[in-house]
Amino acid sequence: EIQENTILVILGASGDLAKKKLFPALFGLERRCLLPTDFKIVGFAPDEMTHDNFLSIIRSPINLESPRFAEQLEQFCQRCSYVSGHEGGEKSFRALRRRLEQLGTGKKEQNRLFYMALPPSIFTGMQEGLRKHCYSERGASRIIIEKPFGHDLESSRELQRALDPNWREDEIFRVDHYLGKEVVNNLLVLRFGNEIFGAIWNARHIDNIEISITESGGAEGRGSYFNGVGAIRDVMQNHLTQILALLTMERPRSFSAEDLCAEKARVLDWMLPIEYVNTIIGQYEKSEDGEKPAFKDEEDVPNDSRCATFCAAVGHIENERWAGIPFLLKAGKALNESLTEIKIHFKPSTNAAIFTTDPLASNTMTIRVQPSEGVFLSINTFVPSLTTQKTSAMDLDLTYHGREIPEAYEVLLLDALKGDKARSVRGDELDASWKIWTPLLHFLDDENAEVRPREYAYGSNGPEGLGEFIASYQNRKSKAS
Ligand code: BG6
Repeated sequence: EIQENTILVILGASGDLAKKKLFPALFGLERRCLLPTDFKIVGFAPDEMTHDNFLSIIRSPINLESPRFAEQLEQFCQRCSYVSGHEGGEKSFRALRRRLEQLGTGKKEQNRLFYMALPPSIFTGMQEGLRKHCYSERGASRIIIEKPFGHDLESSRELQRALDPNWREDEIFRVDHYLGKEVVNNLLVLRFGNEIFGAIWNARHIDNIEISITESGGAEGRGSYFNGVGAIRDVMQNHLTQILALLTMERPRSFSAEDLCAEKARVLDWMLPIEYVNTIIGQYEKSEDGEKPAFKDEEDVPNDSRCATFCAAVGHIENERWAGIPFLLKAGKALNESLTEIKIHFKPSTNAAIFTTDPLASNTMTIRVQPSEGVFLSINTFVPSLTTQKTSAMDLDLTYHGREIPEAYEVLLLDALKGDKARSVRGDELDASWKIWTPLLHFLDDENAEVRPREYAYGSNGPEGLGEFIASYQNRKSKAS
């Protein structure tokens, strides 16, 4: 339940995240009648803007996507107002406080949520100002933050130290939008609600696991941001590591935030830091036909950039369940397709020898996060025939058949509005995931090491040697025998 008298303040309300994701997602909740009547949204940004200008920022992307819902859009706009923080500092925070007080006139309680859709450079000062001037004296206050949570273990802890005096852990929501994706969420029921999978979810039966987040687009217009970040910080330390944690954690006592986050943190603690020798680092060049630009052609990307726009890395989790099996983790921009997928490769059948006509394929479970969400399990079957006993691998197919799948930001905003932290990243999980990636990141960043990423063409499937690299970690047993 969303508490009565809740106000959501979006800081950075004129920015990309707010325009493209937050307002459309909030409107999605409106359209599904999930917002209480007295729920209000206040936009806050440095720009001088009239109320109408602000509403047109909200309306335009929504109108494009959902032109059928004009009436609900008007109702949604009535919840929204804008406060300009152009003066900066205390004055702006006081203006925001006045608006919040105005909206709370005559009410006993007021719950305030602050969504920090802001660049990291101003984050620390803003959260302090909010705590000092806008914290709710009569009701709950929560702060919602997005990555980057620092750029390595130490800076992430520093950020946490800046938050500590101002916000309790239960008041902090760390958003990883991959946790709002349906199929990522579904890992919980797939694993813990199905005995047939639960029983084989371990190194005895699984040979290796691949998790990939590939994107066909390049850095396109975000060159300067991406050059300072790279694929590892952009999606692997957070989105991909969260998927890995849900896929490998032990069964939590319950699906409460406390139990879930504890199990995720625990399994990440068992993971060894990724070593450079177990990686392939790449950066994209122009496409084969020369039409698509190289990463270095992006504005504000220097010619000698060593930024990794691609990374394939092999990790190990040294606990009883997973010891010995490789986790093949891959992410990159400007590749041949946009696909987020988990592939669980099971060990070959021990009975394979009785099938004399064909070599048997190993079973693979493919969990496709996007696009076309679904779960597929390849199993060996006889090809129907009167004369032969050929086998072939066919897919058991669990797709969503046109069901409407909620947007990740709708899921996570609703959680934050309700105060449910089960899909928020806890401080200890964050720490554990930085421990996995920080040594590699420091090695790559080190000026003296001069590690150069391997080149790959825009639109290809990655740097040369990738296929052999991945194959060298797969089906080790069957190759040996
Ligand atoms: C963001 C990254 O966190 O995730 C982007 O900063 C990336 O670079 C995006 O493109 C991918 O998200 P999605 O939901 O489009 O898969």
